[in-house]
Amino acid sequence: MSKAILQVRNLTKRFGGLTAVSDLAFEVREGEILGMIGPNGAGKSTTFNLIAGTYSATEGEVQFSGEPVLGLPPHRIAAKGIMRTFQHNRPFGGMPVIENVMVGAHTRFTSTLWSVVAGYSRKEEIEKRRRAEELVDFVGLGDLRDADVTTLSFGQGRLLEIARALAGEPRLILFDEPAAGLTQDELDRLGGIMRGIAARGIAMLLIEHDMHFLLPLAHRVVVLNFGAKIADGLPGEIRADPAVMDAYLGGSHAAA
Ligand SMILES: Nc1ncnc2c1ncn2[C@@H]1O[C@H](COP(=O)(O)OP(=O)(O)O)[C@@H](O)[C@H]1O
Ligand SMILES: [Mg+2]
Repeated sequence: MSKAILQVRNLTKRFGGLTAVSDLAFEVREGEILGMIGPNGAGKSTTFNLIAGTYSATEGEVQFSGEPVLGLPPHRIAAKGIMRTFQHNRPFGGMPVIENVMVGAHTRFTSTLWSVVAGYSRKEEIEKRRRAEELVDFVGLGDLRDADVTTLSFGQGRLLEIARALAGEPRLILFDEPAAGLTQDELDRLGGIMRGIAARGIAMLLIEHDMHFLLPLAHRVVVLNFGAKIADGLPGEIRADPAVMDAYLGGSHAAA
């Protein structure tokens, strides 16, 4: 079994009187796709925001590669190798696909003002472009390498965002509902890409509503309800778990 890259313990986030994440513990292993499911409002996106440093935790511990990361600003956490994609695509308009991917490398490696001012050496630039081309091919956008990003379809934009995240050489990628709005063909392609990413040893934490997409893809699944973990297991175990069915079908929230 591969070792844990991310360890979350006793993680709690309160917004005023609302406990959005409650004493949560789980881990993600190297090269693992960990699914995260739960009804709307269960605390999934809040958990991502805590791990990525967008929100500060009320309590708890998050270790990445054995180092504490909770409390660091988002850019420092990204620099350590945690990348995320957003529920809505955010490409840089007026720029070709390839350069959008190169910006991803920039996010990770350019941390000082001096390196921005000084610019990259020619050699670094060539290497960065070569690597970006490889990633654009990897996500299946090779034919659109020089196209302006504003001409991409919604699904192509999502693939671009994955290439851009990969350019930062992450060791963990946080995906918040990447399947939303994709066609069946695009879903199949996305699943293949995620398996390819896992094969490179990169871990993924995947929030997803679409069970047809998630269950065959995830190695393990964590289930949240009202901010707390109610189940953690193999996809087959989760599918058969009565508590999970209750969370989705019973109670006061709408099934996602
Ligand atoms: N910035 C915020 N301020 C106040 N409440 C929030 C904030 N973000 C999320 N919440 C609340 O926290 C709970 C969990 O939300 P969220 O993590 O977005 O759920 P999920 O992604 O599982 O649908 C919800 O009740 C939501 O309204
Ligand atoms: Mg959410």
